[in-house]
Amino acid sequence: MESEEARAEMARLAAEIERHNRLYYEEAEPEISDADYDLLVRELRALEAGHPELVTPDSPTQLVGASPATHFAAVAHRVPMLSLGNGFTDDDVYEFDRRVRKLLGSDAPVEYAAEPKLDGLAIAVVYRDGRFTQAATRGDGSRGENVTATVAQIRGLPKRLAGAAPALLEVRGEIFMPLEGFRQLNEELTARGEKAFVNPRNAAAGSVRQLDPEVTRARPLELFVYGLGEAEPAATPDRQSELLGWLHSLGFATSPLATTVRGPEACLDYYRRLAAARASLPYQIDGVVYKVNRLDWQQRLGMVSRAPRWAIAHKFPAERAQTLLRDIIIQVGRTGALTPVADLEPITVGGVVVSRATLHNADEIERLDVRIGDTVEIQRAGDVIPQVLRVIESERPKDAKPFHFPTRCPCKLKTPVVREEDGVVRRCSGGLECPFQQVERLRYFVSRQAFDIEGLGGTHIENFWNDGLLKTPADLFRLKDHADALRQREGWGEQSVRTLLDAIEARRTIALDRFINALGIPTIGEATAKALAREYGDVDSWLEQMLQARRERQANDAPTKKEKAEAEIGPAYGRLCNVTDIGVTTADRIVAFFTEGHNVEIIRKLIAEVQVPPFRSARVAADSPFAGKTMVFTGTLSAMGRDEAEARAEALGAKVTGSVSKKTDYVVVGADAGSKARKAAELGVRTLSEDEWLQMSGAGA
Ligand code: IVH
Repeated sequence: MESEEARAEMARLAAEIERHNRLYYEEAEPEISDADYDLLVRELRALEAGHPELVTPDSPTQLVGASPATHFAAVAHRVPMLSLGNGFTDDDVYEFDRRVRKLLGSDAPVEYAAEPKLDGLAIAVVYRDGRFTQAATRGDGSRGENVTATVAQIRGLPKRLAGAAPALLEVRGEIFMPLEGFRQLNEELTARGEKAFVNPRNAAAGSVRQLDPEVTRARPLELFVYGLGEAEPAATPDRQSELLGWLHSLGFATSPLATTVRGPEACLDYYRRLAAARASLPYQIDGVVYKVNRLDWQQRLGMVSRAPRWAIAHKFPAERAQTLLRDIIIQVGRTGALTPVADLEPITVGGVVVSRATLHNADEIERLDVRIGDTVEIQRAGDVIPQVLRVIESERPKDAKPFHFPTRCPCKLKTPVVREEDGVVRRCSGGLECPFQQVERLRYFVSRQAFDIEGLGGTHIENFWNDGLLKTPADLFRLKDHADALRQREGWGEQSVRTLLDAIEARRTIALDRFINALGIPTIGEATAKALAREYGDVDSWLEQMLQARRERQANDAPTKKEKAEAEIGPAYGRLCNVTDIGVTTADRIVAFFTEGHNVEIIRKLIAEVQVPPFRSARVAADSPFAGKTMVFTGTLSAMGRDEAEARAEALGAKVTGSVSKKTDYVVVGADAGSKARKAAELGVRTLSEDEWLQMSGAGA
């Protein structure tokens, strides 16, 4: 295509995409499907790749956050993908069985299909005339993401079914990553300076929700199927156990540990057997599932909102292990907070090797009375950082060393550590001068929730920092001037330097809220950054207003009465205090950040390097029950991740906060909720179960 022609076509596509962005984000009335939208973006990308000289910085492909939150097209599940009710104790299982028998009106022991509960990613795979045609994630249970391209890369997934398969068949199962593959993958990622996955489940989900199927192909994924979505003509099995056998005969892998049992005692036997086998399995399971075996009885029992009455997940407790505490290390965070971390003799907990566990703070060390050389019990649960639970006193050696919390920062400046007046946090007083804080801030700056620069891991940042290539955020956008020096570094070559510089250039245009969040200003997280972006609209007014607020605040602190009276609460400071989420305390912390001339200089330099388009917030459905409400999410949600739920609440006009107070309107309580749910009850704040939340937010079936 001629240059002129290409330019015209690119302008046309850009305008078209922008129109759809507007329809999607501001009018909430998309005209085209996500798939068609993606097609437009891809067309534009392809043209841009062929004519890089014609790419304009305001092209929709250059804008972070301008494409839909998901890059995948949506798939509606014709039969909703349900979640499972949880049980934890023997009593929960007896209670489940009692309810089943009561509803069936039967006294005879019920036969259950007992299966391991695989800890991976739920998937629905569709076959037409025996050929694999589509794969979708569960999403909110009603709508998932189309991940056909990546799932097609899983070798264990049959592409053609064996024998006589129905014309239409939708099968459900779990994609997971075996432990050994997980370990190897993390090794490779770390060697490349990329971030390792926290656990096999995240690794599986991350590998499937991938834009590049080639990446998925290289990931060790497996699939066990356990159920049916729909079949046309209807499938013949009468029992869950037969269904598994039939699916197996069609070519699917099913769990070799699935079996049938009769009555609750036998369920518990199965549970204990699997609990004992758990540690030696090559993949992770987080419990077992009991399903009423007869499918006609399943029909009769039906479901309550999102979970079937005919099945229950009996969860294993979080995994624990005992190991030697070799040392206590102090980590300095980006705001200077000192966190003690236990350095452990490596130990496998639930298939994942753990060598670090958090000790939270100085008070926790005192409470546990933990000493170097102690044997400690640790716990690893899901996504959270492993924790030290207790000391095994009987194992304490004579020479165990009590830990003295440092009074100076472990960095080379050795600045004094101060204890915050109102809290347990101890902080390095070195501020931006502290090398640890500088590196941590840069790490945060490139992280996913900030500038999201792909392929720039923590080790790279640290090395670049040590060599003086990267001291402040603005330097990142000048790395391209050091391409030669980069290419000469060990482990770097032409291609990897190109890829990194491209990833950086791709972020030169950035949304205002991300820009603000990336700066790592104490007390400002994603939500506050968004509120500030909404309030101030563009980056120059925002900075100017922050500086004005600082001047007003300083005048207010002035020594003479006269000056004080003159200043009062100035308009800019007052405006800042009125922003959602910000009160006087937060405003003061923000203002304090701007009192450091150094910080302002860093921001100015960064602004000179990047483009920050004016902030446009999505128009919010005014009729949503959550519009203008303050909400807190706590505990584990099963239908959607916490991030997804919070984003949804925000899209419905709610303000999502992290702690429960009198001002909270709703607390959504997931499984294993703790203190926040209690606090809500104490304060009389309305709580919603996950089901209620799904119904009210329109995500319910
Ligand atoms: S049955 C109504 N069986 O657990 C049927 N689910 O909490 C719902 N899972 O989304 C699914 N192993 O991702 C079923 N043997 C198994 C399972 C299993 C793992 C997951 C699945 C589901 C979640 C429900």
